[in-house]
Formats: sequence, structure tokens, C-alpha cells
Amino acid sequence: MIKENYEKLQKTIEFLQKRMTIKPKVAIVLGSGLGGLTKSMEVVDEIPYKEIPNFPVSTVKGHKGALMFGKINNVDVLVLSGRFHYYEGYPMETVTYPEMVFAGLGIKTLILSNAAGGMNPSFQVGDIMVIRDHINFFGTNPLLGPNDDSLGPRFPNMSEVYSKRLRKLAHQKAKENDIHLQEGVYIGVTGPCFETPSEYKAYYILGADAVGMSTVPEAIIGAYRGMEIFAFSVITDLGVVGQIMEATHEEVLAAAKSAEPKMIKLVYEMMPEL
Ligand code: HPA
Repeated sequence: MIKENYEKLQKTIEFLQKRMTIKPKVAIVLGSGLGGLTKSMEVVDEIPYKEIPNFPVSTVKGHKGALMFGKINNVDVLVLSGRFHYYEGYPMETVTYPEMVFAGLGIKTLILSNAAGGMNPSFQVGDIMVIRDHINFFGTNPLLGPNDDSLGPRFPNMSEVYSKRLRKLAHQKAKENDIHLQEGVYIGVTGPCFETPSEYKAYYILGADAVGMSTVPEAIIGAYRGMEIFAFSVITDLGVVGQIMEATHEEVLAAAKSAEPKMIKLVYEMMPEL
């Protein structure tokens, strides 16, 4: 990271440090249509992005565009309600700016959520898939460019981006609460097109179970900054050969909403053990 950008980042962090009345240990990034996750949250403060120095502003429908502070199950959290997608035209540095801020605030645990298309034939719309691993298919990387060794390594290790401990915890809590959970590999692509039938097929052959347009860049920065990461996809449409759906953004949002109760419950139950 170049000096000028580092100074910009510090300004954002300092603003938030002064404003914060809680000490969040967990940051949660809400995916499209997954804003309901904040229903279980006692909100203590909410700051629109436009009021935060140097913070980007989001444009996508179904996102609020605010940083929310509060408690979920008595744990202090910071919620990013409205992420920045590469398809909106932001550079990777902007897409991952929030995660750099979280790390600068001392947050150690990152929860990433997203809506995704499922390629695995055992998946159904409305399923929750715990992300075991990812394939970066963006054709770029948020860490390109000069490295600041004080922030993270030049060549980050990616052997366990998604914490084994947190995946195990998710399955345990799901079992205790009768929530059906899938687990699989997420492939991150630029979008904004949904996939052609051949693309869904190709991604499945490559080893991915679900495809979406986010999460991977954020997880790369999370791993780089040494955060423990838990990520999940809500399967909002299927890219399974023979049952490919003509997904629209509205259908994606509606399907995401249908998974809301179990998603809220899962995160709520995991919270004290993060
Ligand atoms: N493809 C890519 N991104 C998505 C999809 C999909 O099918 N569904 C929700 N986000």
C-alpha cells in the first residue's frame, strides 16, 4: 500500500475510534438481501458511509450503506450493511477498504455473507452453504502492488482462509438448532452477468459448489491481516445442469430473504464462541 492510501485509511480508523462507544471484536459483512441479520442486533450506533471520512459509498439495491455498531447475543459487533462490489466499477482497493478498516480497529474475527448460485446438484434454493475454501476467479487480486510488510506478508499463506474451528462451530450449532447446513467451495467472479449454462458447468468441474460476485477479495484481505474468517453463502438460484434458473436480482433478494430466520439463528448462536 502506498503512503498516501495508508494515511487515508488511518484517517477513517481514527474517526471511527473516536466515535465508537463499544469495542467490537467481530465484523460482519452483509450480503445482498441478507440485511435481516441485524434483526437480532441491539443497535447502539449507525453511521452512513457518506459521513465517514474516505469511506466509499455503495450503489447496489438491497444494501443500506451504513456501518452499524451494536450487540448480537451480548457480543459487540460492527456490521457493514452494504458492501462494495467489483462489478460496480470500484477498484479492488475500494472493494476491500472496509476489511482494512476492520483490521485497523483491532477486529480479529470476520464474518462474510453472500447470495450465491449453487452448482452442486445436492443444493436447493434457500440452503446455507458454509464456505470451506474459495477459488479466486476475478482475474485480479486486492494485494497487487507494493506490499507494506507491517500490514501483512508479501506472499500470504492461503491454506486455511476459512477457519476450521469456526466451520466446526457452525455445524455444531446448526445441529443443535435443527438447521440444515451445506458446506462447499465458493468461486468468486466479477459479474455483473449471471452465468451461462456452460459457465456454471465449467465452475462445477473446476471444483466449486457455488458462484458469486463478492467475498473472495474481502477474504484475501482478511487472511492477509490475520483475521479468523467465517463465511457462508445463501443459495439463491441454481446453476445445476438441467435445472438452471433464469435468475433476476429480485429473485435473488427474495430467495435470500427466505433463508433469513435460520441464518439469523446460526450467527446468533455462534457469536459467544467467536
Ligand atoms: N451467479 C453469480 N452470482 C450470484 C448468483 C449466481 O447465480 N446468485 C446470486 N449471486
